[in-house]
Amino acid sequence: MTPELKRAESLILEIPDYPLEGVLFRDITPLLADAEAFRATVDALIAPFRGSFDVVAGLEARGFLLASAAAYAAGVGLMPVRKSGKLPRPAAKMSYALEYGIAEVEAHADFPRGTRVLLIDDVLATGGTLAAGRDLLRELGYAHAGTAVLFEIEGLGGRDALNDPRLHTVFRS
Ligand code: PRP
Repeated sequence: MTPELKRAESLILEIPDYPLEGVLFRDITPLLADAEAFRATVDALIAPFRGSFDVVAGLEARGFLLASAAAYAAGVGLMPVRKSGKLPRPAAKMSYALEYGIAEVEAHADFPRGTRVLLIDDVLATGGTLAAGRDLLRELGYAHAGTAVLFEIEGLGGRDALNDPRLHTVFRS
């Protein structure tokens, strides 16, 4: 691991009992605040997938921060996967269970069917969010190029739930 990535890992804070008691929240804002750590993290997120995707999809909200930087770095377009009720045009929808609640994701069909999409999020916990994102891509007729995650929380079953041979996580605990 490079010194920049080591620093990036140290800049992910653990916040106990947020947003609910018993949940250990990973706060990535100090990492985002460090230019070199942020750049190294974005590069590490997409490195295994270079040349294998046409578009980057980011999951609202923190996934947007990483996915938009990744799209810029890779020179590809961005597909925001939004929480429900935010999109102005007809959208594909997929519901999912969170570590703390139930939600729905939506996206517009702005790309041709068969477009290869790399799905990006900040945290993999139970895997519900990313699984819904992947199902949404399928619903839209896109090809799933892989899943790139900044931080994998081991022990919550996310990796097994996702069952994605092209899952890449930069940091884990
Ligand atoms: C968090 C995180 C992931 C998801 C991981 O998002 O950013 O998207 O939970 O959990 P899972 O693997 O159990 O699905 P959250 O819904 O808190 O949204 P936010 O990014 O808007 O804070």
